[in-house]
Amino acid sequence: MMARRKYVVGNWKMNGLSDALGEAQAIFSAAGAHAAVDVAICPPFTLIGAMVAAAPGAAIGGQDCHAAAAGAFTGSVAAPMLADIGASVVIVGHSERREGFGESDADVRAKAEAGLAAGLSVILCVGEPREVRESGGAIDHVLAQVAGSVPDSFDAQRLAIAYEPIWAIGTGLVPTVGDVAAMHGAIRGALSGRFGDAAANMRILYGGSVNGDNAAELLDAGDVDGALVGGASLTSAKFVPIIAAAAALG
Ligand code: PGA
Repeated sequence: MMARRKYVVGNWKMNGLSDALGEAQAIFSAAGAHAAVDVAICPPFTLIGAMVAAAPGAAIGGQDCHAAAAGAFTGSVAAPMLADIGASVVIVGHSERREGFGESDADVRAKAEAGLAAGLSVILCVGEPREVRESGGAIDHVLAQVAGSVPDSFDAQRLAIAYEPIWAIGTGLVPTVGDVAAMHGAIRGALSGRFGDAAANMRILYGGSVNGDNAAELLDAGDVDGALVGGASLTSAKFVPIIAAAAALG
């Protein structure tokens, strides 16, 4: 197994106008001091080109892509288009897409395949709703999502899984470190069963209310290789401490 580098990804969601580019520059500049950590920002589509220009060489990505490479899909953005404007990453299957836009596991898998085919690194999200967590079915639910949405073939360096319990997103609630470790271990086990040794090289990120205060503890949990961060990724003041926490853990 290659050592898994920590990976900290900002998901700006539908936030950010041109005046936010300075925050991205500050984040990538500070990240330069933490060479052991891979850092990416996924801004809205509208900011990707300008962010690539403002932070040359930085890992910048989309928050979604269409499964098709081109076609009559009004309003959608294809993975090759992301690559074409300099993006190197794409998030697929975020719960806000699965729930708000009705994306199925099959849809998410097709999007992941499209991202990989376009040469992008893919961050594939899974996570259970609150009632499933409360009924004790969280691991089964998430492993079913993993089974249904992870493609059959990929380069393990270019596919990361993000475990994001839906009830923890934007709420300030986080699972216990033990629950995070149990889920990540279960995901790793399922990936190993399906992909063998390649699973050891795949990064599994935690997401949901990660901030500068809880990052060190969450990132140190078993099989946690990084964080997918929403609200706390919008400013360098909040995001850089999370990057620093990841760096401190190596
Ligand atoms: P949050 O969002 O950090 O604001 O909870 C995480 C996410 O949805 O990726």
